[in-house]
Amino acid sequence: MDWIKIFNNRQEAIERLSTPCLLVMRGRRICLATFNENIFAVQDKCTHNGESLCKGKINYRGEVVCPLHHYRFDLKTGREGEQRSADLECFPVQENEEGIFIGM
Ligand code: FES
Repeated sequence: MDWIKIFNNRQEAIERLSTPCLLVMRGRRICLATFNENIFAVQDKCTHNGESLCKGKINYRGEVVCPLHHYRFDLKTGREGEQRSADLECFPVQENEEGIFIGM
């Protein structure tokens, strides 16, 4: 697995991710989001009908809510709240003194 730097530090990440953001890396579209100051990375394409999840919102449970039909995906596990569609692929995020990294 390669670790790719995406932010210089946690503060920068939290500021930039006040709403979910799209990251395109190595041909993959990834939705970056924060919840309770933790940083998460999941596939951007909704497993229901393909909408871009970075256009959605994060709810009080730490789920990204798809803007099209409002399916809810847990940012930690990728699981849809009512298991109406497949889980999202989740990417590991790691922090050290050099910055914030995503594992691909
Ligand atoms: S496309 Fe996301 S819930 Fe339907």
